[in-house]
Amino acid sequence: MRRKVDDLRERGSMGTTNVMIKSTGAYVPEKVMTNFDLEKIVETSDEWITTRTGIKTRRIAAENQTTSDLAYEAAKIALERAELHPRDLDLILVATVSPDMFFPSTGCVVQNKLGATNAAAIDLNAACSGYIYALVIANNFLITNSYKNALIIGSEKLSAFMNWEDRSTCVLFADGAGASVITPSSGESKLLAYDLGVDGSFGDQLSVPAGGARMPATEETVRNHLHCIQMKSGNAIFKIAVNRMKETFTKSMKKAGITIDDISLVIPHQANLRIIESLGKYLKLPKEKVYVNIHKYGNTSAASIAIALDEAHTEGIIKRGDIIGLTAFGGGLTWGSAIIRF
Ligand code: UT7
Repeated sequence: MRRKVDDLRERGSMGTTNVMIKSTGAYVPEKVMTNFDLEKIVETSDEWITTRTGIKTRRIAAENQTTSDLAYEAAKIALERAELHPRDLDLILVATVSPDMFFPSTGCVVQNKLGATNAAAIDLNAACSGYIYALVIANNFLITNSYKNALIIGSEKLSAFMNWEDRSTCVLFADGAGASVITPSSGESKLLAYDLGVDGSFGDQLSVPAGGARMPATEETVRNHLHCIQMKSGNAIFKIAVNRMKETFTKSMKKAGITIDDISLVIPHQANLRIIESLGKYLKLPKEKVYVNIHKYGNTSAASIAIALDEAHTEGIIKRGDIIGLTAFGGGLTWGSAIIRF
């Protein structure tokens, strides 16, 4: 009988389990680009960028360094801290909007670089909400006992998709990667609640319009920078972002049955300091309960929360047992939030 139960468990056909973020890791490229460097490229100023976005510096990957390289570096750290060998992984999820190429997926490239010979690999595109989407997907594979060890990564080389003549975007976006190992939890650590959503009708607000099946590459698309990030109205995105992040976070708190007082730290997507501050104000969060590192890294899309989570963890700001909240919005438009007992 015992044997039968174990067999069933093995095949993932019974039982549910709690799932935790076992470890984190992050990697940012060495090259630091300051606002003063940008002043030399486009008509902008350190004063404008600082007051409108909160960004002071960002990291830019080397020419020969790609999204999978950044992902690989972050993944190695997370795996080492989880004391897992890449062969222990069952699943690799790479959240990115700047994949190495259309296919093979960046997940496949990372799987090969790591030597994760027993893992399935998937790329997922939910833009800046990507890390939260990946966390939820990994969680849902693991709670059914389908898989045991998952590696989720948010990795971006957005500089490869930047029009360096467009001051409305090139001051915002940057490169970096964060990774987390997700495993079953025997203690109280678990994903308590989540909420995900999209509104595709705002898809044209933030996009890379060319290079896909709808607008294959031509000389004209290249000349018009249509393979680069286009932002229709930063202002419109700003307003939607604040509203959606508030709404999704409130929904997740309600699902988890907690109030803001139970939360030790909120890690919002790092897109704009003013967006983060309005969220904090709405949620009535004291400043020290909202994690901010946008001044150092700019907007690294799917990597943003993954890097911030790793920093908050390694700096000792969050400890095991703390309840933390994640909330994000991004191109799509997508949004998502999660409440975690870390
Ligand atoms: O992860 C999601 C990615 N996207 C976002 O997060 C975008 C969300 N939106 C934002 O963060 C803000 O809307 C921005 C930072 C993009 C812009 O800030 P804003 O306060 O909404 O400024 P604005 O778009 O209303 O532009 C104000 C002025 C404009 O000039 P005029 O029309 O008033 O003469 C812009 O042309 O600022 C000008 N401007 C700049 N000036 C100097 C726009 N970009 C720059 C720049 N440097 N880099």
